[in-house]
Amino acid sequence: MVLETNITKMLGIKHPIIAAPMGPFYTTELTIAVSEAGGLGVLSHSALLSDYRKGRNPVQIMKENMLQVVEHTDKPFGFNIRTSRREIAAPQLASEIPRFIMENQRLKEQCIYAITSAGSSKTLPASKDYQKLKESGSKIKHFHVAPALWLAEKCVASGVDGMVITGGEGGGHQSYEKVSTLVLLQQVMQKFPDFPVVACGGFATGEGLAAALAMGAGAVAMGSRLIASNESEFSNEYKGVVPPAKAQDTLLVTGSLGPIRLWKNEYSLHHGLVADKEAKIAQEQAMSQGELVEEMKAYEAAYKGDLTGAVLLGQSIGLIHSVENVKKIIDEIVEDAEKRLKNAYGFLK
Ligand SMILES: Cc1cc2nc3c(=O)[nH]c(=O)nc-3n(C[C@H](O)[C@H](O)[C@H](O)COP(=O)(O)O)c2cc1C
Repeated sequence: MVLETNITKMLGIKHPIIAAPMGPFYTTELTIAVSEAGGLGVLSHSALLSDYRKGRNPVQIMKENMLQVVEHTDKPFGFNIRTSRREIAAPQLASEIPRFIMENQRLKEQCIYAITSAGSSKTLPASKDYQKLKESGSKIKHFHVAPALWLAEKCVASGVDGMVITGGEGGGHQSYEKVSTLVLLQQVMQKFPDFPVVACGGFATGEGLAAALAMGAGAVAMGSRLIASNESEFSNEYKGVVPPAKAQDTLLVTGSLGPIRLWKNEYSLHHGLVADKEAKIAQEQAMSQGELVEEMKAYEAAYKGDLTGAVLLGQSIGLIHSVENVKKIIDEIVEDAEKRLKNAYGFLK
C-alpha cells in the first residue's frame, strides 16, 4: 500500500513526508537521507557565523550543498530561502540559485521544490531568473510557509503553488499569533479546500500524519523528528536533548526573525518574548551588531554541542523516543499512518 496524495504526485515522491528546512544550520546529509528514503529532503538557508567569518556566503554554500546532494542521490529534493528583510542574501539567492539550477541538467531534474519562509512570498516569483527557470521546462514548485490564516490568504493571492501551514507547536520560527497546527490547518482547509497544503509543526508520528491527511493536507513536514536521526548534521549533544525531553520542555522567545520556539535552558528562560511585530521592529532597530553576533553565536554553539546555547526544537520532542536512521523513521511513520487511516475508514458505515 502507498499513500498517494496531491503533494506526492506534484513532487514525484514516494511518501508524503517532507524535511522542514532548518537554517542557519546544515541539512545536506539529512536532505540526501530523506530523499533516498522516499520523502523530500530540503536544503536549509545555511550560513553559520563561522562561515561568514571565513568569507563564505549563503549563495556559495547553497550551490555547494546542491552539488553534494545530486552527487549522492538521484531523487527529488528542495531548498529554502528565508525572505525576511533581515536576510541580506535573500534577493541574491532568489536570482542566483534558479540560474545555477538552470545550468545543471541534474539539478534541473531533481531540484523541484523551492520553499520560502519568514518573509514575503513574492521575493522568489519576482525573480526573473526564477521565471526563466520555470519557462525552461523545470518542474519546480514554489511553496511558502504560512504560520497564520491571513498569511495563507496572502500566499494564495501571490500565486504560490502550495503552502506549508505551520502551527505554534513547531520548532524554530513562529508567528505572533500562536495558533496551534490543529486549528490553523482547519482554518486554511475551510478557506482553501482544494489548495495543495503541507502540514507542519508537531508532526513526528504516524498518528500525526494520518490526522493531517484526513484533514486535507497532502503531506507533513518535520523538523525536530529529523534532527533526532543518525544522519542529521546536528551534534550528538543536540540530538541527545530530544529523547528524553517532554512536550512541555520548550518555550517561545524572540529571535532575530521573530518568535522562535526553543528548548528550555538558561539561555531561553532569560531571553524574553516581545508581544507583537511592532515591538519586534522597535527591538530590531535598537539591536546592535554585537547583539546580533551574540545570537548567531548562541545558535552555532548549540548546533555544535554546547547546550548552553539556543536549542531550537518543537513540542513534538515529547513524541520522539529514540534517535534512528531516517529510513526507519519514515517507514514506521508511513506504516503507522496507514494503520490509523484504515482503522478510521472502518468507522464509515
Ligand atoms: C533547528 C531549527 C531550525 C529552523 N530553521 C528554519 C529555517 O531556516 N527556515 C524555516 O522556514 N523554518 C525553520 N525552522 C522551522 C521548521 O522548518 C519547522 O517549521 C519546524 O521544525 C516544525 O516543527 P517540528 O520541529 O515540530 O517538526 C527551524 C526549526 C528548527 C527546529
